[in-house]
Amino acid sequence: MEFSIKQSSPENQRSACVVLGVFEGGQLSPAAHILDQTSGHQLSDLIARGDMTGKTGTTVILQTLSGVTAERVLLVGLGKQDEFGAKQFREMLLATFAALKNTICKDAALYFTDLNVKDRDEAWKIQQIVLHAAESVYRSDKLKSKPADKPSLRRLLLGCAVKPANTAQTALHQASATAHGMKLAKDLGNLPGNICTPTYLAEQAQKIADEHKLKVTILEEKDMEKLGMHALLSVTRGSRQPAKLITLEYRGGDKKQKPIVLVGKGLTFDSGGISLKPSAEMDEMKYDMCGAASVLGTLQAVAEMALKLNVVAIIPSSENMPDGAASKPGDIVKSMAGITIEILNTDAEGRLILCDALTYAAKFEPETVIDIATLTGACVIALGGVASGLFSNQDALAHELFEAGNYSNDKAWHMPLWDEYQQQLDSNFADMQNIGGRAAGSVTAACFLSRFAKEYRWAHLDIAGTAWKSGKEKGSTGRPVPMLTRFLINRSNATK
Ligand code: BES
Ligand code: MN
Ligand code: ZN
Repeated sequence: MEFSIKQSSPENQRSACVVLGVFEGGQLSPAAHILDQTSGHQLSDLIARGDMTGKTGTTVILQTLSGVTAERVLLVGLGKQDEFGAKQFREMLLATFAALKNTICKDAALYFTDLNVKDRDEAWKIQQIVLHAAESVYRSDKLKSKPADKPSLRRLLLGCAVKPANTAQTALHQASATAHGMKLAKDLGNLPGNICTPTYLAEQAQKIADEHKLKVTILEEKDMEKLGMHALLSVTRGSRQPAKLITLEYRGGDKKQKPIVLVGKGLTFDSGGISLKPSAEMDEMKYDMCGAASVLGTLQAVAEMALKLNVVAIIPSSENMPDGAASKPGDIVKSMAGITIEILNTDAEGRLILCDALTYAAKFEPETVIDIATLTGACVIALGGVASGLFSNQDALAHELFEAGNYSNDKAWHMPLWDEYQQQLDSNFADMQNIGGRAAGSVTAACFLSRFAKEYRWAHLDIAGTAWKSGKEKGSTGRPVPMLTRFLINRSNATK
C-alpha cells in the first residue's frame, strides 16, 4: 500500500472515500466540522436523526454528498471525547479498515491526525494508522491456485489541516518501512516448511543484502564444525536439509560505533526430533522460524529507514527431525563456548542452536545483543498471545524494550532471571542439561541462554505466544517487528 501525508481540506479531496470521526454525543472532529459546513450540515442532520451515535467502532457510509468532491464519506464513531486514548484510537482504526474492506474504494483520505489522543503524539498516530492499514489488506494466498478476492484499497492519504512538519513525513516513512518489515516477516512465517528451509532463509537474506547493499555471510555445517558449534550441529543431525548460520550486517552508523546484534531462532520445522511432538497442530511448528523472520524484517526496515546505527542480524537455521543420525535423549555435546550440555529432551532444541549463535555474536563486539525466539510452550501458558516474554541481564535494556513494546502495541512483559532458577539446569553428567523441568519453563530456558551471554548486555524475547495466531485466524503476526524497529528508532534518535 502507498501512503502519503499532506495538507488538504476534506471537502475538496479527490478520493474514493473521505474518512472522518464523530464523538459520542455527536461532537464532530475538526475535519468533520469543516465538511459539515461545506455540505450544508448534512452530517449534523444525520446525527440528529440518530443514524450515527458516535459510539466507538460504529460506521456509516454516505454517498455523493453535495458540496463534497469525494465520492463517499465514511463516518467512524470515536466514543466519548474525554475518554479518547490509544485504545479508542486503535478501535476506531479497526472499524475504519473493516468498513473500507467492504467497499470498492481503491484509495481513501483519512482525517485522523487532528484528533487529540491522550499521551500520544503525532508520530504515534501516523504509525498506528499505517500498521493497521497494512494489516487489513494482508493476505497469504500465493500458494492458492486461484487467489481469493484481493482487497481493493491501495492508496491512503493522511489529510492534515496544516502543512505537516518534517517529523510527520519521517514518521510516515518509518511506519511504512515497519509495515514492509512486518509483511516480510509474515510472508516468511506463513510459508510451509517444505519451501521455507534453512537454504531458503539464506537466499532471502542474500536478497535483502543485494537490495540494500549489505554484507551477508552464510556459514555451512563444515564451517560450524571448525568453530566448534556442536550444540547447533546436534539439532540438525536428523535432518536432510543442511543447516545455515546467516549473518547480515547493516552499517549505517559511525565506523567505531558498536553494533546492536539481533539473533533470531530459525527452526524451519520443529518436529521435536526423537522426543517427537504429538501430532495435533504439529503443522504450526513451521512457525518456529518466526524469530529469524522478525530479525530479517527488522533489518530490512532499518535499511529502508536508513537509521544511523550499526545493526547485525545473526540467524542460526536448521530443521529438528528424527532419523537414525538424530541426537538422542542423554547425548552430551560441547558448545562453542566449551560448556558441555546433556540433551535430555531433543525438543528443547531452540536453546541449543541459540547458545552457539550467542557465542558467535561476541565476535562483533556488540553494544547490545537481543535474541528473538519461539522458545517455550511455557511462555504461551504464562502470557498467552498478548505479550512476549522479556528477559535481560540488564534492567535498563529490559525497560527500553518494554517501552518500545508499549509504544507500538507490540507488548512484552519483564520476566525474572534470578539465580535461584539456575540450579534446575544442573546435570549429573555434563556442565548443564538442556531442560529444567515443568516449573517456570520459560524462565529456565532463558537461564540456559544467559550462561552464553555473560560478556555483553543481553535481552531475550520469547515470542512463542505472539509470533502467530492459531485456529481459524491461523497466520503469522509479524511481531515483534514493531517493538524492535521502535527500539532501534529510539536508539538512533538518542545517538543523534
Ligand atoms: N518451538 C518450541 C516451543 C513452542 C511450543 C512454541 C509450542 C510455540 C508453541 C520449542 O522448541 C519446544 O519444543 N520447547 C519445549 C521445551 C521443553 C521440551 C523443555 C516446550 O516448550 O515444550
Ligand atoms: Mn522444540
Ligand atoms: Zn522449537
